[in-house]
Amino acid sequence: MSGEVYREELLGDSGASKSDALVEERPAQASSNAPALRIDILSLFPEMFAGPFDHSMIARAQEAGLVDIRIHNLRDWTKDRHRTSDDYAFGGGGGMVLKPEPAFAAVEEILAIAPLAADGPGPPHPVILLTPQGTRFDHAMATDFAGHERIVLLCGHYEGFDERIRAHLATHEVSVGDFVLTGGELPAMIVADAVARLRPGVVGLETATQTDSFATGMLEHPHYTRPAEFRDWAVPDVLRSGDHGKVARWRRDRALERTFQRRPDLLEHLELDAQDRSFLLSLGWAENAP
Ligand SMILES: C[S@@+](CC[C@H](N)C(=O)[O-])C[C@H]1O[C@@H](n2cnc3c(N)ncnc32)[C@H](O)[C@@H]1O
Repeated sequence: MSGEVYREELLGDSGASKSDALVEERPAQASSNAPALRIDILSLFPEMFAGPFDHSMIARAQEAGLVDIRIHNLRDWTKDRHRTSDDYAFGGGGGMVLKPEPAFAAVEEILAIAPLAADGPGPPHPVILLTPQGTRFDHAMATDFAGHERIVLLCGHYEGFDERIRAHLATHEVSVGDFVLTGGELPAMIVADAVARLRPGVVGLETATQTDSFATGMLEHPHYTRPAEFRDWAVPDVLRSGDHGKVARWRRDRALERTFQRRPDLLEHLELDAQDRSFLLSLGWAENAP
C-alpha cells in the first residue's frame, strides 16, 4: 500500500488538505506484518452485503490484503432441489426456524474441519452467532475477535436458529443491542467493520483507533476542523494556540467531561491521576458514589 492511501485517510472525503505537522505521514501498512484477518459470513441474503464492504477503509483494507471478507449463501449447503434452509418449529407456532444441517455443513467446509460430534472438540476459530439473546457487542469483544486469524459470522432470519446450532456450532453469541432486527446481516456488518478496523494497518493513522471512544476506556474529546469561525461559532482558542501541552490537557478534560456527562459508569474503571480527579470533582463527580 502506498503513502497515498494513508494520505486519503488524513484528508477525509473532501480531499481538503489537513493542517500540517500534527501528523507524521507514513504508509497505512507500515506497522503491519500480520496475515489478513479472514471473516466468513454466512447468510440467506448475501446480496445485502453489496455496498458496505466495497467502499472506504474496509474496501482498501481488502485490496491491501489486510482483511479477507468472504460472503457465503447458506443455501449453497442445502441438499434438496428447493434449497430449503428453514422449516416449521416443532411444537407449533407461526415462525420458521433455520435448519441445522446447512449451517453445520457450511461451517465445517469453510473451516475445513471434520463433522462436529458431541464428544469431539469444537470449532478451532470463533463461530459467532448473531442473536438478540447474545452478549452485547462492545469494544472489548471487537478487540478479542480482531486478535484471531479467522472468524465466522452466522446471520439468522425468521425465528432464528435451531437450538443445536447455538449449542454445538456457535462458540459465541453476540447481540448488537436490546432490539430485534429482521435478520443478522446488519449485525454481521457492524461486527465485521468494528473488528476489521482494529487490525493493524486498516486505519492508516493507527493512533486513531487507540484514542477512539472506548479504546481509552472513556469517550473521546470533541473535534473541530476549518473554518475556525463558522456562523459566529468559533473553534476554541487553545486548539489554535500551537501549545501541544495545553491542547492535550484540553482534550483530556473534554473527554473526561463528556464521559462524566454521558457515561459516568466508564469512570469507575478508568485510571485517573490527581489532575483528572480534581477536574472531575469540580464538575460535581462523586468518587466512589454507589
Ligand atoms: C427476528 S430475529 C429472531 C429473534 C428471536 N425469535 C428472538 O426472539 O430472540 C431474526 C435474526 O435476526 C438477527 N438479529 C435480530 N436482532 C438482533 C440483534 N439485536 N443482535 C444480533 N442479531 C440480531 C439474528 O440473527 C436473528 O436470528
